[in-house]
Order: sequence, then structure tokens, then C-alpha cells
Amino acid sequence: MNNFEFYNPTKLIFGKGKLETLKREIPRYGSKILLVYGGGSIKRSGLYDKVITILGELGTEVTELAGVEPNPRLSTVHKGVELCKTNGIELILAVGGGSVLDCSKAIAVGAKYDGDMWDFAERKAVPKEALPLGTVLTMAATGSEMNGNSVISNEVTEEKLGWGSILAYPAFSILDPEHTFTLPKDQTVYGMVDIMSHVFEHYFHKEKNTLVQDEFCESVLRTVIETAPKLIADLENYEHRETILLSGTLALNGILNMGLNGDWATHNIEHAVSAVYDIPHGGGLAILFPNWMRHNLHHDVDRFKRLAIRVFGVDPAGKSDLEIAEAGIDALRAFWNSIGAPSRLADYEIDDSKLDIMAEKAVRFGPFGNFATLDKQDVLEIYRKSL
Ligand code: NZQ
Ligand code: ZN
Repeated sequence: MNNFEFYNPTKLIFGKGKLETLKREIPRYGSKILLVYGGGSIKRSGLYDKVITILGELGTEVTELAGVEPNPRLSTVHKGVELCKTNGIELILAVGGGSVLDCSKAIAVGAKYDGDMWDFAERKAVPKEALPLGTVLTMAATGSEMNGNSVISNEVTEEKLGWGSILAYPAFSILDPEHTFTLPKDQTVYGMVDIMSHVFEHYFHKEKNTLVQDEFCESVLRTVIETAPKLIADLENYEHRETILLSGTLALNGILNMGLNGDWATHNIEHAVSAVYDIPHGGGLAILFPNWMRHNLHHDVDRFKRLAIRVFGVDPAGKSDLEIAEAGIDALRAFWNSIGAPSRLADYEIDDSKLDIMAEKAVRFGPFGNFATLDKQDVLEIYRKSL
């Protein structure tokens, strides 16, 4: 493995009833709060009222930014930055899924910057300061609750770019599995696909002697595969929600990828699709990942074989290494189909008319992928296989 330094500054507060810890955490940061949330799910579930009650008891001054979109938009970030600057905001409190958290991270750095936050996404500038951020997560998927990443869509240029900073890690994140009970089946599935995809992105790397990391990755994958069908059949099952929620955090908080550089090409390819068509991130990954795997199988058949046997239980008897590896990819496709994930771009009514535009966006910063380097032609082939 590579040499590494690990530092994760987020305080993770996990479990039933943990919303109460807001009373302890918030006063550490001040009394002027920007409350950020999405399109209304937290109002329907009653979580909004609970948060407002606690903020009221604390005597905080609350400014609200509602309506953060799935695939959060730069214009919404700008609104939030403006609210922070005009109201002297001291803490941002994000209540929602990954989109609400990512938007809040962008607001946190934008509020302490004189230029446009988009400069950070375009790599023209690096954040030097940020407002503190606390989160109450309502959906297991992105891992945004315990990482410094954020993905923002610029609706004017039709770009969707990820950026990251140590300053964007939440100061604290509250994860109560009950807050995810109301997440509908389709979003629950997208979330689980995203979690598995984060683990795949780590798993496909080129470093040697990564036994610990590989075994950790495999155990998280097996856990999600075992739990997913049970959760889908029983969306308000506390234990299954709890298992998936912790899996989501572990999949992208830096623990599984200590000392290795994961691939991350499929995420880049997916972001280009959702930049143009505004589809759910997990839905896009479910379509693209098996095709990325088929496209790159030849780079390291042994790694795909290992995945097939250890995670998907493929019986190697009588099969060549390549056949075992391919059976693993088939098993992934079959598993995602079985839980109701989409498998083709046509499922979102996406045809071949904008493949070139999407591929151009994917290679914006040049060829990419640490396990297998992709250029525009590779991306186009993966898109074509996904039609
Ligand atoms: O907007 P509301 O009304 O809250 O509804 C949301 C939204 O419609 C709903 N939802 C969330 N929690 C709910 C709920 N509905 C009912 N009950 C609940 N408890 O679910 C819908 C999707 O929410 P969203 O936040 O968009 O989903 P997700 O958490 O998957 O976030 C997706 C975004 O994160 C980015 C994606 O690209 C996408 O923009 N990513 C962020 C990453 C990161 N920060 O590390 C990494 C990921 O790979 C990903 O790229
Ligand atoms: Zn993802």
C-alpha cells in the first residue's frame, strides 16, 4: 500500500433519539444558524418540526434555505451564500440527503470567499476558510456526512463537478436510522447502489498488499447485498436501516481506501450523464458500473475473479479465470436488477443523441481513472454499451 496520513475531523453521532444532541452541539458554534433542507420530505416526516423545536429551545436565530434540489444547483448555493453574508451566519445546519449536505458544504466555503464558489469546482481556487457545518442525515447513500466532498450542478453550463476540502467535513453529523424510514423504495435502492459503487471505486486500484482494505471492502459489499432485499421488503425495519446507514458512512469516509488510490472513473462518467439529464446518481451508477467493469476486465482479471468468488459466491469449478470474473459481473447486474435498479440509459429515456456531449464533459480535466485510464473513446464505448 502507499504511505498515508488519515485524519477525519467529523464527529459521528449515531443512533435512535440522537437528534437531542443538537442541544449540546449547536451552542459550540454560535446562535445564528442557516437551516438548509430539500424539497419538503423533512416537513412531511415531522423532522423539521423536531429540529425547529430544539432550535427554539436553544434560542437560536434561524434563517432558512429550503428547496435544495436532488443534484443541487449552483444558483441555490449562491442563494445560501448570500443569506450567510447578510445574516452573519455562524453555523450551517443541513437536514436531508447528500444533495442538501453537498449544497451546504458549498455554501460553507462560498460564504467565506469573495469570488464565486464555482471557482473551487473548476480548480481555479482552493478554499482557505469555511463556516462550520452540522448535519442531520435522512438518507444512506453518499457518505457526505463524514467526508469533505461535494458535487454541484451548474445549470447554466450543464456541468456537474465534484470538489473537496478538509474544510468541508461536517463538524458533526447526526445519524438516526429512524430518520431514513420515510425514504421511498426507489431512493432506498439508489442509495444502496451508490454505497456499493463507492466500495467498488476503492476496490479497483493498482496498489499491492492491500489485504486489510480489500477484506473490509468485501465485507461491506456482502453486508449490503445480504441486507438490501430484506430492507426493501420492510422499509421501516430499524435494524436493516441501521445496517445500511452505517455501511453508507463507512463506504466513503476514508477508512476503506487508506493507502490506496481507487479508480473513480465511473463516478465521473455518471456525473456527466446527470449533468445533462438530471437523473438520480445511484440510478446512473446502476446502469454504468457493470459496463465499466466489462470494459476494463482485461486490466486485472484476478481482481474481478476475487470479487466474483468472495462477494458474489461464484463457484469457480470448471471455469476459466475469465469466466469466473465475467460471472461476477453478471451476478452484480442480476442483483441490482433484483432490487429494482435501472439497467439501461433507455430506462431514463436517454438515447444516443447526446453521448458525445456527455463524453466531452467526462474528459473535461483530461483522461481519468486510476485502475484503468479512460479517454473519450472509452467513455463513448461504455455509454454505447449502456444504451
Ligand atoms: O428534497 P427532499 O424533499 O428532502 O427529498 C429527497 C430527494 O428527493 C429524498 N429524501 C431524502 N431523504 C428522505 C427523502 N424522502 C423521504 N424521506 C427521507 N428520509 O430523496 C431524494 C434524493 O435525495 P438526495 O439528497 O438527492 O440523494 P443522495 O443522498 O443520493 O444525494 C445525491 C447527490 O450526492 C452526490 C450525487 O452526485 C448527487 O448530486 N454525491 C455526493 C457525494 C459526496 N458528497 O461524497 C458522493 C457521491 O458519489 C455522489 O456523487
Ligand atoms: Zn456516488
